[in-house]
Parts: sequence; C-alpha cells; structure tokens
Amino acid sequence: MSGIHFPKNFILGAATAAYQIEGGRYEGGKTESIWDKFCEIPGKIDRGETGEVACDHYHRFREDVALMKRMHLEAYRFSVSWSRILKDGDGEVNEEGIAFYSALIDELLSAGIEPVLTLYHWDLPQHLQEMGGWLNPESISWYLRYAGVLFDAFGGRVKRWITFNEPFVFTDFGYVTGSFPPGIKGDYRSKHIAAHNVLKAHGMAVRLFREKKIAGEIGITLDYAYNCPIDNSPENVQAAELANEFWAGWFYEPIVFGHYPERALKYFQAHGVAPEIKEGDMQLIAEPIDFLGINHYFCNYVEADKNNTREGTRLVYPPRNHNDMGWAITEDGFKVFLDYLKKTLKVPLYITENGISLNDIINLHGEVLDFDRIDYLERYLSVLAEAIEGGLDCRGYFYWSLMDNMEWAAGYKPRFGLIYVDYATQKRLIKRSGMWYRDLIDEKNR
Ligand code: GAL
Repeated sequence: MSGIHFPKNFILGAATAAYQIEGGRYEGGKTESIWDKFCEIPGKIDRGETGEVACDHYHRFREDVALMKRMHLEAYRFSVSWSRILKDGDGEVNEEGIAFYSALIDELLSAGIEPVLTLYHWDLPQHLQEMGGWLNPESISWYLRYAGVLFDAFGGRVKRWITFNEPFVFTDFGYVTGSFPPGIKGDYRSKHIAAHNVLKAHGMAVRLFREKKIAGEIGITLDYAYNCPIDNSPENVQAAELANEFWAGWFYEPIVFGHYPERALKYFQAHGVAPEIKEGDMQLIAEPIDFLGINHYFCNYVEADKNNTREGTRLVYPPRNHNDMGWAITEDGFKVFLDYLKKTLKVPLYITENGISLNDIINLHGEVLDFDRIDYLERYLSVLAEAIEGGLDCRGYFYWSLMDNMEWAAGYKPRFGLIYVDYATQKRLIKRSGMWYRDLIDEKNR
C-alpha cells in the first residue's frame, strides 16, 4: 500500500516522444527531421549517439502497448513525427505515416488505454528548418496544415490533444544555449520571435480544432522549473517572482493571463530582443484551452542579486538529493508551485511529465530494483495527491518516461523509464518502479 490517495477518475499514465523512441528513420516514407540532421553533427550528442534506431518502437509498438497493459496504465502520451505525416513537412500526405499512428491508436484503444497525442515534440521537418523554421511567419500555416491532417485522421479516436511540448525548451536551447537544433547560441531575439510564432500557431490550432468540431479536448504543455526563494525574506520572495517571469512565466503568462510578463517584456524591448506583437496576437495566444499540461522535474532555489541586472537573482544550490543528471529532488518546492497553479489557473491541470533518471542496472536475478525512482514517485505523487485533496483541479499524471530512451543531446545514458531497455538486444524489462506504479493504479481503482 502506497498510502497515496487519488480520486478514481484521476488518470495515471506515462509519456514518450516520437524521436526519442521510434527509430525507423528511413522507413515508412519518413523524411528528415531537424533531430536526424543535428545528430549527424560531430560533438552535438554525447558519444555521437542518434535516434536512428532508438527503442525501435516503430516496429515494436504492439509489444510496448502489451507492456503498458501489464502495468495497468490508464493513458499513454506520445507524440507524432511531422516528418512521417507530410513529405518534407509541407508536401503530400504520407499514408504510411498515418497508418502507423492509426495502428498504434487502435492498439491502445483495444488495450483500454487512452491515447493522448502531442502534435509537436521538437522534431521539425528539416526542409522547413531550411526555410527558416519557426522564425519564418509562414511556420504558422505549415503547422496549421499539419494539425488539420492529424485532426481529420485521428479525431474521434483521440480525445485529448496537446499542441506543443515545452516551447520554452526548444526555443531557448535552439537559439540561446545552442544545445538543440538549430544550434544557435546567444540569440535572444530569434528565441523570442520563434516562440511568438509557436504560441500563435498553438492558438490557430485551437481555433481549427473548434471549427472542425473535434470531439475531445485540446491544450498545450509548458515546462515549469519553478523558482523558489531560498527563504521568506521579502527581497528574496520578490526576486523569485521576477525570475519566474523571465523564465517559464514568459510562456505561462501569455497562455494563462493573455499577456507577456510586463517587467520581462520591458527589459527585452529595451534590449531590442522582444518579439513584435501585432494587434490580435495576444488574444490568439490566449485562445481558451480545455486544460493545461505542465512538465515539472525540479525547482530552482534563488536569492536576490543586485549584480544581475536582468532577472535580479542568483541560483543557490542547497544540499539535496539529485538525480544522475544533477537535477535536485525538490518535492517541497513542487508543493509551493502547485499552490501557485491552483491560484492562477482557471482550467484543469495535467502533469504531463515528471520523472527521474537513474543509473539503473539489471541485477544477477534479472531485475531492476530502482528504489530511488519509487522514492521519487512517492515524494511527488503524495504532494500532488494532497494538493488535489486541497482543491487543486488536476485530472491526471504522466510519468516520464514509459521506457528508457534517447535523452536528446545527452544520448542514451540517462535512464528515465519505468521499463528498462537493453539497446543491444531491444529487450524490455519492467523495472520494480513499473510494478509499484501498477499497484498504485490498482489501489486507486479498488
Ligand atoms: C522534457 C522533455 C522530454 C524529456 C524530459 C527529460 O523536457 O519534454 O522529452 O527529455 O524532459 O529530460
């Protein structure tokens, strides 16, 4: 017994993304994506790894759905690879690509698992990148056409849709840190232009979804590494608020409040790196959604720092447990963050990602005894369950990830899965945490 109590209609599932698991790079009429290309550039991905084969889910999805069923998962969040659906991203519809996802959806439905579809989890078709990618205002129409094809093909069978995964991460890492494609460094202006187009594309897709009268719900997934003050002094509390406005708030506030955070906007305008905001843009971005997805892995602890003339804070690293990527385990901060969400959010919330990577090993008895992952789940899920009891309208939780996979620029070393993947043989093994999660689901439904 976990002692964690969720309402019966609360959904417990797991998540993945196309590039991280599918493989099948040259198969089924797929054209090239920016991640296919980026992985070929020496030095970009740890150990030179690529998603060419990944978990070979493209061929093994039936086996993977069977494993989900063994774990009693109630929902599965996956993403569609744009490059499988439209030739080069803006060409003809690739029926083989549609057929692949159609078969996956049918397999899930017949296993009693709800499919939750993310339209865009970072793998832009390379051809569109060559035409300027998200910096090109045309990107909004490219995306809209793609969204329309998916709505027509899977509408009715898929009831929950997510327009974008983590626009902060792919624009910031794409144009500021340079660790993701297109690999540009220090270009805040491009980041903000790309992000503004992405947010507008999101709003347009929501409108299209309504026009087409698709039965179901649509929302967006934002990442939010919440900044907590290191103590309760007013100066640190205010500093943490400002840090949130400059980071995740840059995306959260337009979607939820209908405007960019004022202080951050002024700062970016003064530095000539703000996006151009045209009449109607903010209404479009804040087009009413049915739910908000939040991906949350850790909190940052910050204090006021006068020398930082941007967001006025300094990161502080309190002594804590960390995962093997160095991310702090901060369920106490998660609690504060959920309170912020409860106060500000007017639509239902889903935690669409949360999880931990560990250096998992298969023991002599052929088991993966990942007790630290169970501990992480206990910490985060008990905080979530308590918040729901306290009135937070959160309808579901998706563990990241269903299975070990290609962790972007960090390659295959980080293992986030509830299922262990032996990449040499493609054998899967449900970890102890996966069985713990199954028991939690059973407990809820009892
Ligand atoms: C998220 C991302 C996932 C996964 C996860 C773990 O930012 O959406 O694709 O990589 O982080 O790092």
